[in-house]
Amino acid sequence: MPYICEKKAMIQYSTPSLKDAKEIYLLGTCEFNWIYEKIAWELSVVEWYIKYHRSYCFIALKGDSIVGFHFSFVEDDIGYMGWVAVNKEYRRYNIANQLLDMTLEKMRSNKNILNVYAHVRNDNIVNSWLKRRGFVDINQQKVEMKYTLKEK
Ligand SMILES: CC(C)(COP(=O)(O)OP(=O)(O)OC[C@H]1O[C@@H](n2cnc3c(N)ncnc32)[C@H](O)[C@@H]1OP(=O)(O)O)[C@@H](O)C(=O)NCCC(=O)NCCS
Repeated sequence: MPYICEKKAMIQYSTPSLKDAKEIYLLGTCEFNWIYEKIAWELSVVEWYIKYHRSYCFIALKGDSIVGFHFSFVEDDIGYMGWVAVNKEYRRYNIANQLLDMTLEKMRSNKNILNVYAHVRNDNIVNSWLKRRGFVDINQQKVEMKYTLKEK
């Protein structure tokens, strides 16, 4: 029988509701470590995403606990990849990849959205991860990235 990691096998994915906002906010405060994130990350930000862009927000659950999230939004038919974080205990189990898959799938289902933009840091594993996922740098500082949605 193949070995299946228990942590990986037990993860479920869903969209958040407003009652999850506080838990997501607290998870973000624990997991974000860059100064910009610490300043910009607020409960009102989480609530804004869930209220107005819920269909582009995804959470990873272990039982009743939220262990990861990925929040994005769409404005004027352009996709913007927003906040992503996974609880340290659950990292490297492909959770962020799964959350990104769901986000891109949802955006792809809206035929008006052609591109997804991401604002990133130039010193982070996230840049190389997104490059492997098909995002390309769009400015010299390498802090803006773009993904072109295509039919699969
Ligand atoms: C970035 C983060 C969300 C990744 O979550 P994760 O669930 O561990 O990621 P996954 O297991 O799905 O891996 C995603 C990719 O990143 C790579 N990766 C993840 N952690 C890595 C690390 N510490 N070093 C190198 N690569 C890493 C994986 O190899 C994978 O790439 P691949 O699919 O090409 O193999 C997580 O590390 C995190 O929460 N960091 C703190 C918050 C943050 O920096 N958020 C981004 C700014 S909003």
